[in-house]
Amino acid sequence: MVFVKTEDLAAGMCIARNINFYDSSNKTAQTFEAGRKLTDVAITQLRTSNVDGVYVDTVKSEVRMISSINQQIRSEAISGIHSLADNFMNSEKGVQKGDVESISNTAQNLIDSLSSHKDILVNIADIKMYDDYTYHHSLSVAIMALAIGIELGFPNNMLNELGVAGLLHDVGKVSVPIEIITKPGRLTKEEFEVVRMHPVYAAQHLKERNLVNDNIFKGIIQHHEKMDGTGYPYKLSGKQIHPYARILAVADVYDALTSNRPYRIPNPPNEAIEFIMAGNETHFDEQIIRAFLRKVAPFPVGAKVKLSNGENATVLKNYPDAPLRPMVSVTDSAKCYNLYMDTTYHNIVITGLLENKDNMRLINM
Ligand SMILES: [Fe+2]
Repeated sequence: MVFVKTEDLAAGMCIARNINFYDSSNKTAQTFEAGRKLTDVAITQLRTSNVDGVYVDTVKSEVRMISSINQQIRSEAISGIHSLADNFMNSEKGVQKGDVESISNTAQNLIDSLSSHKDILVNIADIKMYDDYTYHHSLSVAIMALAIGIELGFPNNMLNELGVAGLLHDVGKVSVPIEIITKPGRLTKEEFEVVRMHPVYAAQHLKERNLVNDNIFKGIIQHHEKMDGTGYPYKLSGKQIHPYARILAVADVYDALTSNRPYRIPNPPNEAIEFIMAGNETHFDEQIIRAFLRKVAPFPVGAKVKLSNGENATVLKNYPDAPLRPMVSVTDSAKCYNLYMDTTYHNIVITGLLENKDNMRLINM
C-alpha cells in the first residue's frame, strides 16, 4: 500500500483505505470504499474536491502493462514477414504481390490498434520477444515507427507505407549468412561489407518487381543512413534521407540496443534512450527523437525497476514528457516517489529493469 497524491492518480489504481470527502460539485458527502478501482471520472471528482491523495493497493491495482497490440495481430505479422522472406530467398519464385498485400493489411491492423489507444504510450517491453530475432525485431520496429508517425500526425496512407517499410526493413538480412549475423565481437571488413548490403537486397528485389512504391523503397534502403552522412549504403545526409528511413533509424537502433542477443546482454532502456539522445543530429533527426520520446514508455506501468539509491520499485505512472522519470512505489514499503514532479526525488534515477519473473511475464504477455 502506498499513498498517492491526487494529481498522480491513474485509472485502474485500487483504493486501499476508505476515503470520506465532501464532493464540491454535487454538494454531498461521499465515500469511496476500499477495494474500489479508480476511473477517470472518480479521479476528476477527487481532484475537484481538493482531496490530497489516497492510499493505493499496489497488489490489487491494475497498474500492469496494457497490451497495445493483441496476440493475433502479432502472430499474423510474424507469419506474414516469415512467408515473404521465404519467397525472397526462393530465387525462382521471389516475393509475390499477395505477400506484400498481406504485409499492408498487417500494417493497417497495427495502425488501427495503435490509433484506438491514442492516449497510451507504447509499452516497449510488451512488444519484445527473444526468439526469431529478425522477424520480431521487424515487428517491434514497425510498431515504434507507427507510434512516431501517429505522433507526427501522418495521414493513414503514409502510416500504411511506413508500417510496410518497418515490417520489411530487415528482410534482406535473411540473405546474410547466419554466422555473420550472430557473430560475437567485431566483424571483418569483408563481413561488414556483406551486412551493409542488407537494406539494398530486399529493397531492390521489391522495387524491380513493382511490389512497393518509391516511399517504401526509400524507407527500406535508407534505414541505416545517418544525419551526418556517415551511414550506409549511400552516405546520404540530413533531408536527403527519406522521413520514413529517419523514423525507422531511431526505432531500429532502440530495439537493437535493448534486445537480448546471443552475443550480448541487452542495454537497459535508459542507456538506449541516452544513446539516441546523444545521436541527435549526428545519427538521428531531432524532431523524430522528440516524437519517439513522447510515445514510448521504456519503463512501462507495472515494470519492476532498480533505483540509484539501492531500492527496488514498481512503476505506477508514466509521464510523456519525462520517459525516464515515472512515478514508482518502493517494493515492500509505503514509499512512493514521483521522480518527475517531486523535486525531493530528483537525485534518484532508475538504473535499469529488474530481471525477475514478473518482468519476464510482462515481456512475454
Ligand atoms: Fe537493418
